[in-house]
Amino acid sequence: MGYLADKKNEHEAACEAAIRAGDAPTARMHAAKAAEFCFALAKQTSGPVSSSYVTTAEGWLEIAEKLATAKLPRPAAGGPRPVAAAGNAPAARSTGGAGSSPVQDDESSSGESFEVSEIPDVSFDDIAGMNEAKAAIQEMIIYPMREPEKAKAMKLKPGGGVILYGPPGNGKTMFGKAIAHEIAAPFFYASGAQLRSKWHGESEQNLSRLLKAASSKPVAVLFLDEIDGLLPRRTASSSVVDNRIVTQFLADVGGFRESENTLLILGATNKPWAIDEAVFRTGRFDEKLYIGLPDKDARLGMLTRAFDGVACETAVDCAQWAERLDGYTGSDITGIARKARLAAFKRSVEAGTDPVVLASDLENAVKVIPSSVTPAMVRQYENFNQQRFDGTNSKV
Ligand SMILES: Nc1ncnc2c1ncn2[C@@H]1O[C@H](COP(=O)(O)OP(=O)(O)O)[C@@H](O)[C@H]1O
Ligand SMILES: [Mg+2]
Repeated sequence: MGYLADKKNEHEAACEAAIRAGDAPTARMHAAKAAEFCFALAKQTSGPVSSSYVTTAEGWLEIAEKLATAKLPRPAAGGPRPVAAAGNAPAARSTGGAGSSPVQDDESSSGESFEVSEIPDVSFDDIAGMNEAKAAIQEMIIYPMREPEKAKAMKLKPGGGVILYGPPGNGKTMFGKAIAHEIAAPFFYASGAQLRSKWHGESEQNLSRLLKAASSKPVAVLFLDEIDGLLPRRTASSSVVDNRIVTQFLADVGGFRESENTLLILGATNKPWAIDEAVFRTGRFDEKLYIGLPDKDARLGMLTRAFDGVACETAVDCAQWAERLDGYTGSDITGIARKARLAAFKRSVEAGTDPVVLASDLENAVKVIPSSVTPAMVRQYENFNQQRFDGTNSKV
């Protein structure tokens, strides 16, 4: 039993190492071996333990099958390219011939572990700031879709993977929806926690269903929120599920590169340091975009949008507030503006007058909505950028 479990673990680890190294045939061999040892373990055990080994074995067989057709990218050299250089290097990569799409079938996509919405109505124009992130996405997906002939001539295919990371409330989810809007694509949303299940084998099935559903559309945006929960950094004490789901994810995404549909996978996280190393390293996520706190221009943009067409007394000065709200997140700022509008509304209903936002409404709002990020939290992201990406990833 100990021997079988050891061998199983050994092959699991070797499979993952081979995937990281971009060696699909070796990875496939180890996945098949891992399945073999799981089946052997299933024979030696009984009841739920045995059936969980069977599920695990089947999972490995599925991975082995995918690896037969997946073209694994070679490991990326170094970290991500700086987003500041968004105008230079091509982001989408050529995939050569038609290839096969191992994840395309008719299986029902009605699983409740994820949500699909039609084309979202939030657009790039609704997002204040984030100019470099917008430029990176434009180059990676919007331009190649708009100008397919030119992209083809340059052997570029739209789609791929992007990690969006940064403190909560600064528009990662909003940005994901806006991208889907810009390319008129349905928006598939799932959180790592939603996909994760305490039942053995179910997390993989959830993930597979989601990937299949998204890849059944000609164009789709797949937003994996809290991707740190789905693909957590593995440690010696990680569960089998943790290890296998990461491996399966990497193998699946390898398959997408070869498929004909255009799929943009966005992985969002507030805790980039908690993500498995392999996710960053294997080159499956072409871009890592830091979505930090809004700068002064972005803050002004948010306030201007929030009070656009709204009656305000002249003392309400958006430029001054943009200055004052340094260190506040996007959702803090839109929350403050909303609170002020609500106060004006309530006052007007009670007094039977026309609603007008007063400077004092903003003063009161800012008292009850403090900045939700501390300087120490911001420093944590900066340190992460410094360490992981050698400081090349500029603030967006
Ligand atoms: N750059 C921005 N422009 C306009 N609104 C923003 C921006 N960033 C954040 N917001 C506001 O904050 C809310 C929360 O943002 P969200 O996308 O959920 O952040 P995150 O996913 O990074 O936690 C948004 O729905 C929006 O109202
Ligand atoms: Mg979010």
